[in-house]
Amino acid sequence: MKFLVTAGPTREFIDPVRFLSNPSTGRMGFAVARAARAAGHEVTLVAGPVALRTPHGVRRIDVVSAREMLTAVESENFDCLVATAAVADWRPARCASKKLKKNEMDGLLRLVRNPDILKTVALRLRRGHGRRPILVGFAAETGDPASEAVRKCREKRLDFVVANDVTSAGSGFGTDTNRVAFVFPDGRIERLPLMSKAAVARRIVRMASGLRNISE
Ligand code: C5P
Repeated sequence: MKFLVTAGPTREFIDPVRFLSNPSTGRMGFAVARAARAAGHEVTLVAGPVALRTPHGVRRIDVVSAREMLTAVESENFDCLVATAAVADWRPARCASKKLKKNEMDGLLRLVRNPDILKTVALRLRRGHGRRPILVGFAAETGDPASEAVRKCREKRLDFVVANDVTSAGSGFGTDTNRVAFVFPDGRIERLPLMSKAAVARRIVRMASGLRNISE
């Protein structure tokens, strides 16, 4: 299978030296890319700004902003998209061409919504013909992740969502482990124990390729 994985944060610049972003390190996405490659798949990784080495045998496209990430994803063909990226939901309405002085910034920041990459791609694929690729989303929640994840799964028309509570110990941003649940559009939930991101990644790849085989 051809896997496309989005990973890391995006940066949305206010001026040449300031941006909006989030603490995503890209580790989960890089682990998925590595696991998919190890399982013999062809893998492309679309990465926001992260400090990680490209897994062996993986093709990598570096991007900075959400809009660049969308362009990169839309230009690729894939059998499975795993969207782990923590895309910034908002960007400044405009980016100043010169560094803003502190006193120029008061009340200046106006934000506009960024495109939802996964939703945009899902919508386009729904309209298209032929076999639909497997779409996997992530839902980082603070609290019980399951109910929000089911809604997200249906709204974005995904095959499953990997839900995690980013506030629980050993889970979320910057950790090596994750406690996740796989949530399906019919409301079914498969809770996994706390495990390494590498092990979670292998489970995701196995689930995605299993679903692909069922749809064959
Ligand atoms: O709605 P929410 O942002 O929580 O959805 C998370 C999922 O959607 C993740 O898989 C994330 O990579 C994807 N996403 C996206 N583009 C956005 C926001 C989220 O692809 N602008």
